[in-house]
Amino acid sequence: MENARTIDELGGWRRSHRNTDLRASDIGSEVCLMGWVQYRRDHGGLIFIDLRDRDGLTQIVFDPDIAGAAHARAHALRSEYVLAVKGRVRPRPHGMANPRMATGEIEVEVTEFKLLNTSQTPPFEIEDRVEVGEPMRLKYRYLDLRRGKLAGNFVLRHKAAQSVRRTLDSLGFLEIETPMLTKSTPEGARDFLVPSRLNAGQFYALPQSPQLFKQLLMVSGLDRYFQIVKCFRDEDLRADRQPEFTQIDIEMSFADEAMVMDMAEDMVRTLFKDCLDIVLPAPFPRMTYEQAMRDYGLDKPDVRFGLKLVECTDIFTASDFKVFAKAELVKCLKVEGGEVFTRKEIDELTEFVKIYGAQGLAWIKVRENEWQSPIVKFFSEAEKAAVAERLAVKPGDILFFQAGPADMVNTALGYLRGRMGERMGLIAEGGFAPLWVTDFPLLEWDPEEKRWMAKHHPFTSVQPGHEELLATEPGKVLSRAYDMVINGYEVGGGSIRIHNAEAQLKMLAALGFSEEQARGQFGFLLDALQFGAPPHGGIAFGLDRLTMLMAGASSIRDVIAFPKTQKGTCLMTESPSDVSTRQLRELHIKLRERPQDKAAATPGTPAE
Ligand code: AMO
Ligand code: AMP
Repeated sequence: MENARTIDELGGWRRSHRNTDLRASDIGSEVCLMGWVQYRRDHGGLIFIDLRDRDGLTQIVFDPDIAGAAHARAHALRSEYVLAVKGRVRPRPHGMANPRMATGEIEVEVTEFKLLNTSQTPPFEIEDRVEVGEPMRLKYRYLDLRRGKLAGNFVLRHKAAQSVRRTLDSLGFLEIETPMLTKSTPEGARDFLVPSRLNAGQFYALPQSPQLFKQLLMVSGLDRYFQIVKCFRDEDLRADRQPEFTQIDIEMSFADEAMVMDMAEDMVRTLFKDCLDIVLPAPFPRMTYEQAMRDYGLDKPDVRFGLKLVECTDIFTASDFKVFAKAELVKCLKVEGGEVFTRKEIDELTEFVKIYGAQGLAWIKVRENEWQSPIVKFFSEAEKAAVAERLAVKPGDILFFQAGPADMVNTALGYLRGRMGERMGLIAEGGFAPLWVTDFPLLEWDPEEKRWMAKHHPFTSVQPGHEELLATEPGKVLSRAYDMVINGYEVGGGSIRIHNAEAQLKMLAALGFSEEQARGQFGFLLDALQFGAPPHGGIAFGLDRLTMLMAGASSIRDVIAFPKTQKGTCLMTESPSDVSTRQLRELHIKLRERPQDKAAATPGTPAE
């Protein structure tokens, strides 16, 4: 029995086993278990309790003929009471074994027990099968974490972190911590700011990533760095995003794309082998950004299934259907067997694509002798024939069309494709399809800010031969960035960096920084790049996203012990919260009127 880890001692009682350890081979042994009361069942004289710990359950029995005093006291035990029990392992009676339980062949006949603590009736049953609303789960997160399935996610997360550490250590990477109180930078997401008491009116920012520090560690010659590190971004939250999340952050000197990508792939392959005993393909398939956008509409395609998008813009350039004729891009998603969709289902899909800015969702159901659709009446025979040929349509298909600005069309159909993959059962349970997406544009136009923004970050270098384009045709420049995508999630992203001050200034100029602004914001980096910066590159993975995928969880919140809600709040500690006037004064902060104060001051307006 592997027992080195079970050394808990309490009042002279020593836990001999964890609650999933005991097997038929232990029958006859004297044991001591500790844990929580999962169920208590009184059965004419015998009392049964499932005793739970982190790992699972052992059935314990109070038998009045064996231990009268313990049995008498056991009547008072309730769910979630905490016990230490001593007893003897015995086989379950004939026919009573439970093959679904690791310890299902045995039970422990209690000789004596200590009641270590009582519990109020919990607000929900500590049981995987019980559906509990998320607000309740988050308010009583410590109880939610008692549930086996959720607890299991943290065992997995721990294993994942250990696997990554082992791999990176074996490759000579040093784990180095970087500051949490750092400088606010204008690029990227919104910063979380921290006021400085000692420097009136000035602020630190919590890091969005350790990007610049890890590059500076390369300048300092530390050569190979990694860190499993909290990052903070004040973004709008989604199922795969949290305001604080964990990166596996990596940087290496004297490296090109191939070196970083090979290293990262090996790390992820080892991770899946260690955690799930799954062998991922070697090497991972690769796809350019252009190809991903063309066929899947997204730069993080889920390639577990087909359903590629097909462009049809040219078919409709002279069409009477003006919505299509005027559009920058017209694309089609053909779903075989989709002809069965009801009107209601199509209406739901139309609402779904509107999330991504679509005005509507045009569709055609292909029947034996007709096309049923609200739009074919606008199509000419030639247009119909061209659609039929390009999409190789057959009876039973449904075609979904999206027309409009290219970004919107791609995004809306890209996510619709994901939904169709699920709806049509095209996604095999438990499968993983990793790939690399490469050749990203360096910049993207931000219509709101009316300027170019870095697609990855401003420290990413351009592909050889594209340097000159930066000043002339910035939108055409490709970068040396790469993303790792698994099952439609971007799990990691990185690049080869700029390691030359002049090139870095040019990049910042393309983003609209004057030299003065560039030096004001990034002077320390520009200085450092002048003191013998080696060529370097790296990558960062989202540990939460990787764990979520490996755990088969549908939300990143299920792999974060104490996550925030969509509104960025913690329902358990009730943060964020008001602070005292004294604290604010020390920080030299005076609050403006807040929306909730305004609402409170206006009678009849419901406070938010
Ligand atoms: P990037 O911004 O792509 O790159 O982040 C790297 C990875 O972190 C994860 N991630 C998130 N996970 C949960 N919640 C969030 N809000 C969130 N934001 C990002 C994703 C993503 O792939 N410094 C660069 C990396 C580099 O160039 O080395 C960076 O931060 O899985
Ligand atoms: P309408 O002529 O506006 O009634 O639109 C006819 C059909 O086309 C409806 O099913 C709309 O949902 C759909 N539709 C409208 N605008 C677009 C668009 N930009 N792309 C795709 N379909 C659209």
